[in-house]
Amino acid sequence: MCGIIGYIGSEKASPILLKGLFNLEYRGYDSAGMATLNNEIIVCKKGAGKIHDINHKLNFLSLEGTIGIAHNRWATHGGVNDINAHPHFDCSKAIAIVHNGIIENHRELKEALSEHKFESETDSEILAHLIEEELKKGFSFEDAFVNAILKLDGNYAVLAIKAGEEKILAARKGSPLVVGVTDHGIFLSSDIPSFLEWTKKVVYLHDYDIVIAERGGIRIYNLIEGQVSRPIDTVEWDAEQIKKGGFDHYMLKEILDQTETIYRAIQQDIDVVNKIIDEIRKAYGIFFVGCGSSYHACLAGSYLFSKIAETHINVVLASEFENYEHFLRENTLVFAVSQSGETADVLEAVRAAKRSGSKVIGIVNRMGSSLTRESDEFLLMNAGPEICVLSTKTYTSQVALMILLAYALIGRYEEGIQKLKGLYMDIYNLTSRSMREHLKKLAEMLVHKEHIYLIGRGLQFTTALEAALKIKEVSYIHAEAFAGGELKHGPLALIEDGTPVIVFVGEDDEKKILSNANEVKARGGYIIGVSAERHDIFDYWIKVPEGGDLNPIVQIIPMQILAYKLAVLKGLDPDKPRNLAKSVTVI
Ligand code: G6P
Repeated sequence: MCGIIGYIGSEKASPILLKGLFNLEYRGYDSAGMATLNNEIIVCKKGAGKIHDINHKLNFLSLEGTIGIAHNRWATHGGVNDINAHPHFDCSKAIAIVHNGIIENHRELKEALSEHKFESETDSEILAHLIEEELKKGFSFEDAFVNAILKLDGNYAVLAIKAGEEKILAARKGSPLVVGVTDHGIFLSSDIPSFLEWTKKVVYLHDYDIVIAERGGIRIYNLIEGQVSRPIDTVEWDAEQIKKGGFDHYMLKEILDQTETIYRAIQQDIDVVNKIIDEIRKAYGIFFVGCGSSYHACLAGSYLFSKIAETHINVVLASEFENYEHFLRENTLVFAVSQSGETADVLEAVRAAKRSGSKVIGIVNRMGSSLTRESDEFLLMNAGPEICVLSTKTYTSQVALMILLAYALIGRYEEGIQKLKGLYMDIYNLTSRSMREHLKKLAEMLVHKEHIYLIGRGLQFTTALEAALKIKEVSYIHAEAFAGGELKHGPLALIEDGTPVIVFVGEDDEKKILSNANEVKARGGYIIGVSAERHDIFDYWIKVPEGGDLNPIVQIIPMQILAYKLAVLKGLDPDKPRNLAKSVTVI
């Protein structure tokens, strides 16, 4: 969804910004660019493609200067080409800007600037021209920037530099932006990992904050509150956590991280858990909302709450939540589930809930994200940075938190903790080299298939949905999940000789799902069983422990590995699937 980074300090900016771009690549990777201030003029390089290739061609490091801004693009307005890559400039090339978000009124604004020459098809370029226009009226760079920002509708995190001005100006509304503070300078960035190598000291910005970053430090002005001071926090992540640690891809590293991340997810403040449980007890109507994998965690959560705590949960895709807004009351409780805490659809749902006076509980990985600020209470997943675009470890952390809450609701919190702690060895075995080899063999059989179907019932159905998402987004093979009982209502028509069907078996539904698998087998389907016991009907077996309530965790892990292996066999980059971005900050 685009990543932006700026640096002002005593060091040469381009090497720092280039590293930042690599660390932010998960946010967008169809184009990249950089502009620095060199001897009072702005110099810039930008182009379409992956950063590595663009840098090879253009050599970002040849940009001199100690002040600069840079951008990774995930296209929304305008095709992927060199011209639409950021930074963008005003007519005189004295102002350069980078932007993450969407400027909704860019067309109207552009019409009013008919004398200006626009180069790109982006919504972002308008900002540079608006600043230019304000400068012409005699305003200072800072005032011109603020006046321009006030004209924008939509979401933005923006950075701007001007020839001859030793500063970076920044603004945020709706899109993430944080400040990193080091001895040698200031960072402004979409995300902490981009500068973690240099500093753990961060200032979380709020919506409507304007930042003036100079060599001596920063000043923050909020468009609503006026001059403000924001605290400097220290993040607990270390730079090692965002490196690949010897693995070929982040995806594999993050899958293997799960031995630890489940343990970290259960390290919760009991007082906060109790407060949330109180809210659940008082609530009239509970919603779980999320997108992508987080939505699947919500679905798993609804089955878990029903099974463990006999509590009904409404599960709604965040992007569909507005259709349910009229059910919201002051005593409705909305759980917003999001790894990044920045997904626009989720934040929209949160705002809809707040408008109706409902309470919002966040389940989130990113401290300091919009969701941590906008929810009434939140639980942190503590999974550490997840860099691969696909959610793996954060999905299982979300499910772990759902399990924990369901047990807490029936007064058996400690039992939930112990069950989840007991997963350590299971996950260790599920991610072992021999398991990975076993799944590689399966991937070799499946890699040329056009379709893979997955079935499950109850909790296992939610795993089938998540596994299908993993396979399709990383390997581009069509994968679709069905509830076992639904096969006979349509999907059976898809089964031909050799059609692969992955069957998730849990002890509760063993008989029924095996009979569904038989329906497939009778029509020539190739059955891949994911279960604790081997059954004759299986053509291929993936042995997993019987986890009961923990099945959504133990059964998804081999599927994450299978998806990874499929991508690698196809020569694809599992960390950066085409057309996708990690944090989707547009609606
Ligand atoms: C994107 C990612 C998915 C993720 C979804 C929700 O689409 O590619 O992997 O599940 O966003 O993200 P969130 O940060 O809200 O959990």
